[in-house]
Amino acid sequence: MRCGSIEPFEWIVEQLMQLNLPIIDDNKIDIRRRNVLSSPKFGGSCDIDSKPYLKELGIEIIERRQPIQFTSNFGEHVHRWAPYIQGFSAAFVQSILDQYKDEYKSPVILDPFAGCGTVLTQSKLNGYKSIGTELNPLLQFIADTKVNSWDVNPELLMEVFSSIPRDLRTPAPEFLKSENQFNREVLKNLEFLKGGIDSISAKTRKLKKVKDLLLLAFSSILINCSNLKRTPCLGYWKDKRVADNAPWIFMKQKIKDICNDLEILQSKCRENIREHSKVYFANAMEHRHEDMFDLIITSPPYMNGLDYVMNYKIEMGWLGFTKALKDAKKVKDSLVVCDNVSKGLIKTFAQTNSKYTNNWIEDIKTNIAVNIKRRGNYRRSDMPHIVHKYFDDMHKVMKTISESLKRNGRFILVVGDSLIADVYVPTDLILAKIGTEFDLAVEKVERARNRHSGQIRNYRLRETIVTLSKNSD
Ligand SMILES: C[S@@+](CC[C@H](N)C(=O)[O-])C[C@H]1O[C@@H](n2cnc3c(N)ncnc32)[C@H](O)[C@@H]1O
Repeated sequence: MRCGSIEPFEWIVEQLMQLNLPIIDDNKIDIRRRNVLSSPKFGGSCDIDSKPYLKELGIEIIERRQPIQFTSNFGEHVHRWAPYIQGFSAAFVQSILDQYKDEYKSPVILDPFAGCGTVLTQSKLNGYKSIGTELNPLLQFIADTKVNSWDVNPELLMEVFSSIPRDLRTPAPEFLKSENQFNREVLKNLEFLKGGIDSISAKTRKLKKVKDLLLLAFSSILINCSNLKRTPCLGYWKDKRVADNAPWIFMKQKIKDICNDLEILQSKCRENIREHSKVYFANAMEHRHEDMFDLIITSPPYMNGLDYVMNYKIEMGWLGFTKALKDAKKVKDSLVVCDNVSKGLIKTFAQTNSKYTNNWIEDIKTNIAVNIKRRGNYRRSDMPHIVHKYFDDMHKVMKTISESLKRNGRFILVVGDSLIADVYVPTDLILAKIGTEFDLAVEKVERARNRHSGQIRNYRLRETIVTLSKNSD
């Protein structure tokens, strides 16, 4: 159900009853709830608000519901080595590879936002060359280790793990609140486990790979050993019970899983082991590739999405990628912007001139600014500039990578739309329109799933798969 602009109190009470929220008197309905209930977007949907954009692009959205999130990877070989909640499902990536297997023989694949390397891992499992860029150093390490350790002897890995000295201690990162995050004995065991791994010599290439796998495994057990949960944001888990020796138990299980997968890879995918894969620690906005690609499969950060850095601060700190919280914030500010970047970055952006713009972005930006002013309060008053910078950053990425896409190549991106201060932002369609500036035709936009707006829960958003193709001449 949709409502007009400002509604009478009775209408608000009726809506509260439908939402199963406690009924309280007029004065106690807080500003935020009042804004939600009086929003012109209350009960609305992306389908209604996308119409003018779809008309201008001359396309319709095709239904193609499917699970595209990482959770389904927890039992999958290699993918399970390191959980990453913002990742793709391997099955989704496979469905794309299957879709184009007859069109491209041995395609070369790029994921400019590699994350934990789902696209690269799945490409390599198919025997395809794949390249990625990633600016979070932890994820770049995880993704690169995941695709470049398939020749490690599982017996050697288990042997090195079993002989780790247990009396060397690497202290927990000082800048993290480790004493709150881990029980005292668990923390001690983690420090000894890390100390043991750190003591392993990495003087040969083989041993370096073994050590990297141990570090990857260590990073992936940290949250299980902690008093925290990631669902998907990091928070304390009251009443969570963790055994004192959990670090050793979880680590052993993780190493067993990795060894098991290595055995399978080495017996069933022998020929793929040497297939070239590389994840560069590089900015997708400017990294120039030596290769030309048949397929670019990716998922950019979502504009008002999760915190891709702070949610991984524990692993980043323990693996030494950040020495202080300000390092993590610096990483965050280097990424394609989300609504959790520093105010300083956006302020500087707003003051500089050379910015990408188009009429859709300009209208959206203006409407957001008007609505924030009308509301009198909003989570971030610099939201119009965040939106602007998001598309500015994505414009740079799309320009850079479209230059590396072969003629007849496909650029497939999965992205979610947003509702910001009562203004609908069709991120998928705007990115599709930007693509047309770089010789990319909009082939199709498919809805993979419905989502809800975080601000107005009954406003329906979507997550779509946008397929752009590069013209053949
Ligand atoms: C939605 S996640 C991608 C997840 C990936 N599909 C997977 O399965 O793991 C987006 C990723 O883009 C990375 N990123 C953001 N801005 C970047 C940039 N300018 N260059 C390279 N990577 C960037 C983030 O660190 C994050 O890991």
